Amino acid sequence: MNHTHTARHTHGTDTDVQAEILDLDAEVLAEHTTSITAWLPLKSDPHHLVDLGCGTGTGTFALLDRFPDAHVTAVDASTEHLQRLRTKARALGVQDRVRTVRADLDETAWPDLGSPDMVWASASMHHMARPERALRNVHDALAPGALFAVVELAGHPRFLPENAPEERPGLEERVHAAADRLQKEHMPGRGADWGPMLTAAGFTVEGQRTIAVDIEGDRDEAIGRYALGVLQRIRGVIADRLSHEDLTALDRLLDPSGPHSVLRREDLTVRTERTVWAARRT
Ligand SMILES: C[S@@+](CC[C@H](N)C(=O)[O-])C[C@H]1O[C@@H](n2cnc3c(N)ncnc32)[C@H](O)[C@@H]1O
Repeated sequence: MNHTHTARHTHGTDTDVQAEILDLDAEVLAEHTTSITAWLPLKSDPHHLVDLGCGTGTGTFALLDRFPDAHVTAVDASTEHLQRLRTKARALGVQDRVRTVRADLDETAWPDLGSPDMVWASASMHHMARPERALRNVHDALAPGALFAVVELAGHPRFLPENAPEERPGLEERVHAAADRLQKEHMPGRGADWGPMLTAAGFTVEGQRTIAVDIEGDRDEAIGRYALGVLQRIRGVIADRLSHEDLTALDRLLDPSGPHSVLRREDLTVRTERTVWAARRT
C-alpha cells in the first residue's frame, strides 16, 4: 500500500490514527458487536478466549463483558495497540482477565495460545498474508468442539448522502471505488467469503450472519469524528488516484475547522455490513 501520502489534517503516526479509528469503531458499532457475541452458537460459556488481531481491544472487552467468568488472550503485531488495550483493561478493572501477546501472525510459528474454547478474529483475518495457513493454525490451536468466530466488515463505512457534497455529488463512492481497487491488489482476503476457506481448513461452519449497519449520525458527535478519521485514512492512500476536483472537495470535508467539514454536517449516517462466520473444530 502506498503510505507516502499522509492525510493533510492528520496528526500523529499511522498507528495512532488507526487506534483512534478502532476506538471509534468500538463506540459507534457497540450494539452490533453485542448482537454478534449474543448470536454465537456456543454449547457452553467459554472460559479461555483468544482475540486474534485484537487491535485496541474492541472484541476483547466485548467478550469479557459477555462472558464474566472468562479470560482473554489478546494477540496483535502492534506493541502500541496492545499498550492501549492494557491501559483500558486497567481503567475497566479487568487487567487480571487479560493477557496480551505480541506476535506477527504472518510468521510460520505462532505463539502458544493455550487451549482456547473460542477464538475471535474481527477485521483481522483479511490482513493475513497467507489466510489459509492462518486458518489452519487456528484450527490446530483449538480443542475439538471449540468455536472460531470470524467477523469482517463489508468495507469502509459510508457516511455522506449520495448527493453530497454539493459541488461534487457522489464523491464518497468515487473515493471508495479508488480505495477498493487499491485494496484488492494488496488484500485479496478483504470482502472474501470465509465460509469455504474455513471448511477447507477443517472447520464445520455452523452459522453465518450478516448484519446491516445503518446508524443515524445526528444521535452522536462520535460519528462525525469517525467519518473524519476513516476518510482521512483513505485519503492518505488514494490521493493520487482522485481527480483534482474530487481531491479539493474531499479536503474541504476533511478540514476540521473549515465551513464544509464533516464535523459540521448534520446529515451523516454510518452504513456498512458486518458478517460473522461461526466455525467449529469437529
Ligand atoms: C482492522 S484492525 C482490527 C482490530 C480489532 N480486531 C477490532 O475489531 O477492532 C486489524 C488488526 O490486525 C492486526 N494485524 C494485522 N496484521 C497482523 C499480523 N500479521 N499479525 C498480528 N496482527 C496483525 C493489526 O495490528 C490491527 O490491530
